[in-house]
Amino acid sequence: MKFIAFNVREDEEKYFAQWEKETGNEVLRLPDMLDMSSVEKIEGFDGVLALQTGTYPDEMFTEFKKFGVKVFSIRNVGVDNINLDAAKKNGVVVTNVPAYSPNAIAEFSVTQLMQLLRNTTIFRNKVAKQDFRWAPYVGKELRSLTVGVVGTGRIGRAAIDIYRGFGAKVIAYDLYPNPELKKQGIYVDSYDELFSQADVITLHMPATPDDYHLIGTENLNKMKDGSYIINTARGALVDTKALITALRSGKLAGAALDTYENESDIFNHDLSNQEIKDETFKELLSLDNVLVTPHVAFYTETAVKNMVLIALNSAKSVCEDGTASTVVK
Ligand code: COI
Repeated sequence: MKFIAFNVREDEEKYFAQWEKETGNEVLRLPDMLDMSSVEKIEGFDGVLALQTGTYPDEMFTEFKKFGVKVFSIRNVGVDNINLDAAKKNGVVVTNVPAYSPNAIAEFSVTQLMQLLRNTTIFRNKVAKQDFRWAPYVGKELRSLTVGVVGTGRIGRAAIDIYRGFGAKVIAYDLYPNPELKKQGIYVDSYDELFSQADVITLHMPATPDDYHLIGTENLNKMKDGSYIINTARGALVDTKALITALRSGKLAGAALDTYENESDIFNHDLSNQEIKDETFKELLSLDNVLVTPHVAFYTETAVKNMVLIALNSAKSVCEDGTASTVVK
């Protein structure tokens, strides 16, 4: 079988090569984005792989149909950028990698919170200017805080374990509670309860139209003064302008954002010689109580390996058997 993979990075290369050797199938690897300008490259292949945060246009799936390609296997978990109805209408089976490494994302979220709590950006900037004084940047310890976890799927649960290890009190909200956690009494009944009780809100949920800008002015006002937001999930969950207002007013003490609502032309691009045109994003970067990272919470050796191998196996399985355990319904 022959597959084509888009957005391939050099750190993924060895896993593609390993899989080709082990299975005897061929994979053409391209660094290109998959969009309407590159989609014709899929002609002649049995399946297509990609990984990007930008939207896959609906018309792309008519091209899949035209070229007889029946499987689209994404090497990541989130499917918010795919119109699954358009794929289905064109007979394209979509697969994802639901659990490449929940710990990768959970660990990164905690890392970022710890940095905010101990003002590491501020101290780094001060040290660079040879200002070695301490005050007034006294830190906070996790064991004195209540962490509110939104979303208790695999990533949220991994985060809960880590936070508990540090002695934090953890509360959680999920529309579909996990039975084990429910027995432990971790859940509050509403967002209002979570927002008003937690010192830290950490997001571990997919983006759906219902949760668009969940963290906006109204809910920010329900939060404790001086609380923290951690978003390693999806940019659309946070109204960035409202967040900036809350950060500037002191309502929020800090935020760690590994995702941003308009990230697809920014993150994983080298813009070092360009002026950033997105004024809201520029403002975020200027705040010393915000940690911006370019959607790298997932980015560990374990995760990359699993993303490549699981996506390839899914594509192969759909080609051979018509389905895979990772089909997105
Ligand atoms: C995902 O797996 O959905 C992520 O957020 C990772 C990203 C590289 C797309």
